[in-house]
Amino acid sequence: MTMTRLPWNELSAAVPRAQFIPDVIWVSDGEGGFVALSRHDDLAGWQAAVQANRFVVTQVDDGHTPPGGKGQTPTSSCSMPSVVAAMLAALGPQPGHRVLEIGTGTGWNAALLARLVGDRGHVVTVEVDPDIAEYARVRLRDHGPLVVTGDGARGHPPAAPYDRVIATASIRETVPWPWIQQLRPGGRLIAPWGTNWCNGFQLTATRTPGGLTGRFSGDLVFMRMRAQRRTCWEPSDDEIQQAVTSTTVCNGVDLDRMRNPTLGLFAIGAKLDHICAHTYWNTLGRYHHLLEFDDAATRSWARLDADLNGTEPNTVLELGPRRLWDEIEAAYDWWHETGEPGMDRFGLEAAGGRQWLWLDEPDHTVRVLTEA
Ligand SMILES: C[S@@+](CC[C@H](N)C(=O)[O-])C[C@H]1O[C@@H](n2cnc3c(N)ncnc32)[C@H](O)[C@@H]1O
Repeated sequence: MTMTRLPWNELSAAVPRAQFIPDVIWVSDGEGGFVALSRHDDLAGWQAAVQANRFVVTQVDDGHTPPGGKGQTPTSSCSMPSVVAAMLAALGPQPGHRVLEIGTGTGWNAALLARLVGDRGHVVTVEVDPDIAEYARVRLRDHGPLVVTGDGARGHPPAAPYDRVIATASIRETVPWPWIQQLRPGGRLIAPWGTNWCNGFQLTATRTPGGLTGRFSGDLVFMRMRAQRRTCWEPSDDEIQQAVTSTTVCNGVDLDRMRNPTLGLFAIGAKLDHICAHTYWNTLGRYHHLLEFDDAATRSWARLDADLNGTEPNTVLELGPRRLWDEIEAAYDWWHETGEPGMDRFGLEAAGGRQWLWLDEPDHTVRVLTEA
């Protein structure tokens, strides 16, 4: 059996994960935040975290929260072993390959890649955070990969072309052009992908003579690349007073179909141009949800007051030049009218300086992501 086919629990036998995890990790505090756990203070807890098939958070809040504080957002981690195994299998690196990884983190995945490509291959891994990069550089010293500190969106031209490109931080909407340019024809790219509407999909793409062609599959939730985090907008109470009020016949079943990853979530996110979605379940009581949507660029905002207990149509507030809720309903109708396609029917194409999402065929454009 090759290492790309190894079950997750055997990856650590190939390259011990524990050697790459820092002494201080971050664990859930049970209230939505994170607290530091030190190997020296709680060896059993640290070992349990490292040996489990779970991601291990190694940095919070871009490093601004020191141990002792309460972390809000994980910003670096060692990925879940079963996810690492699945991504390596999808990437298919071969002995002798040149591989570019974006998002070094602990360096464990880069070490696994180096094992797979062997002595004749070469692995370059790029990490945006200088402290994390330096930690990984030390850990990777005897494993072979070159650790580059910088914005991974630029790739690393000096070692191109690459046979494989793998991102272990999520991209939003478009694939950075340098990754495409630095991938050799026929080469493969694997990246976690999302939109403002939703995150958590895998893009598997191949370099074509003119650019890139890719398809989507499910369930690959990664933290977003630093420059590609969502930028959301929240209006003030005074601004909300100016909002236009209307009603919608959209009900709980519709909401589930819109937000369900196995139903309309992907398609609606593919159709909608930059709309952030926030769902506050049961905020105003059982089955009484608030859904908010915004577009920071145009300062447009909408709120759906979804009281699923009542029989009256639900109330919608809309503010700004874009009527976001109307766009969402139109995207939902489009998804239904096109036969309710799942994510497996969508693709991403890059050619001639443009990138676009398509349904079934590259010439059936769903949305242009970036113009030439
Ligand atoms: C989930 S972790 C990567 C896990 C890693 N491959 C491992 O084996 O531990 C994501 C990493 O991507 C890094 N990152 C975020 N934005 C980046 C960017 N623009 N360029 C390079 N690295 C980035 C984060 O700092 C973080 O360390």
